[in-house]
This record gives sequence, C-alpha cells and structure tokens, in this order.
Amino acid sequence: MQNPDEKKRFVQEKFSSISGKYDFLNSVLSFQIDRYWRWVTTRELQEFPEGVVLDLCAGTLPLSLELTRQARKRQVLAVDFCEDMLRAGVRHLPADDRKERIVPVCGDGEQLPVKTGSVCGVTVAFGVRNLARTQQGLREMHRVLKTGGKLLILEFSRPRNPLVKTVYNFYLNRVLPKIAGLVSGDTEAYEYLARSIAEFYAPDELLAMMRQAGFARTYHRPLTFGVVTVYVGVK
Ligand SMILES: C[S@@+](CC[C@H](N)C(=O)[O-])C[C@H]1O[C@@H](n2cnc3c(N)ncnc32)[C@H](O)[C@@H]1O
Repeated sequence: MQNPDEKKRFVQEKFSSISGKYDFLNSVLSFQIDRYWRWVTTRELQEFPEGVVLDLCAGTLPLSLELTRQARKRQVLAVDFCEDMLRAGVRHLPADDRKERIVPVCGDGEQLPVKTGSVCGVTVAFGVRNLARTQQGLREMHRVLKTGGKLLILEFSRPRNPLVKTVYNFYLNRVLPKIAGLVSGDTEAYEYLARSIAEFYAPDELLAMMRQAGFARTYHRPLTFGVVTVYVGVK
C-alpha cells in the first residue's frame, strides 16, 4: 500500500467507519471461530495470572475481555489509535469488575504511551498486519515488556493446503467483502482485509522481525489449517 503515513490514516478511517458493526461481522464471518482463536492465544499467558497486560490494537476489546476472563486478578491496558473502536467496546463491557480491570487508552502502537519495562505481557490480535511500521511496533512492544515478559501475536496467515487455500481465497476475496459491505456499508474496508492478508509477512519472516526487535525463544503455531497463526516471543 501507499506510504506509512497514508496507510495509518486509511486504517484509522476504515476502522472508525466499521466500528459499530465490527463485533457482529467478526463473529458471523468467522463462524465464531474467532472466539476459540482468542481463547487459545490468551492461554499462552497462564504463567502470568496477575499484573498488567498490554492489549495493543485492542479495538472493540474482545481480547481484553478474554484476558480478564481467564485471570481474575489481571489488569489490561487496552491501547488503540481508533477512538471509535474503543468506544464501541466500552459500551459493551459487562457490568462487573472487568469494567475496572480494563483500561482503554487511545494511543499509537508505534509510539506507545506506556512506561519501559512495565507490563508482563503484550497481546496483539489482528493488529500487527495493520501497523504502518511493523518493525517499529515490535520494538515498542519489546520496550514496554518486563524482562521475562511474553509477546503474543494472533494474526491471519495463508493456508498452504491447496484445497483449503482455494476455498479460503474464494471466501475471502469474493464472498466476505460482499456480505461485510452490505452490513457495514463499507466494502472497501473488507477488500483491504483480503489484500492485507495476501501482502502480509510469511510466518518465518515475522518471527525473524521479532528476533530483530530483541525477542528470544520465538515460535509460531498455526491454527485452523493455517488461517491464523499465533506467534510467541519472550523478552
Ligand atoms: C482488526 S482490529 C483488531 C481488534 C481486536 N484486537 C480484535 O481482536 O478483534 C485492528 C485494530 O488495530 C488498530 N490499529 C491499527 N494500527 C494501529 C496503531 N498504529 N496503533 C494503535 N492501534 C492500531 C485499529 O484501529 C483496529 O482497531
């Protein structure tokens, strides 16, 4: 796509435009498998049942909610640069203690408003692909983690099995933008989704970038035929 600043503006505008319909479309278009993907990702943080986790690109807060559901003493700093997405998420927060344990903050992942070495975990679900400067974002995630803290990235990847690939590409390029366009009124946002998945780094490339940003013990785990991949790294 365009230059990084143009991409940033485009991404911010697109998420703002679909913010009211994001959760509904997410669960319909993924046949609700997205819940399982977030559950699996969050389980990787079991060794940190307390303390603060930064949920970057938190959007409407689905992963922040899962993080607080799985650990009753955990606090979540939910950062996103699209205020409308955060507002849509806050409107649907359950009226229990999770409301206090999730703190939404409007901020940029490439320049995090978070103290160095202050969080025990960083999670990013379906956000890294949207960063205009991926390497800079990874450096920031590394900076804010405590030594020994863990980074978890959940991101779309490209299935390799030829049959799965054919069905998936047809769905992603032909079916999904049409349904999503009708519901959200913004077909372009979902054409961008398909394009950004096609253009995103391969798993080995992203792992190499994580190591370059300072992460150790990196590995990845494909889920659902490689439709998504969970990436793990430790500071
Ligand atoms: C696909 S949504 C993911 C939301 C949520 N994490 C989830 O699991 O559904 C991607 C989010 O990344 C945010 N985003 C993209 N670039 C960002 C940046 N540089 N800083 C902060 N948030 C960013 C967008 O505003 C959007 O809300």
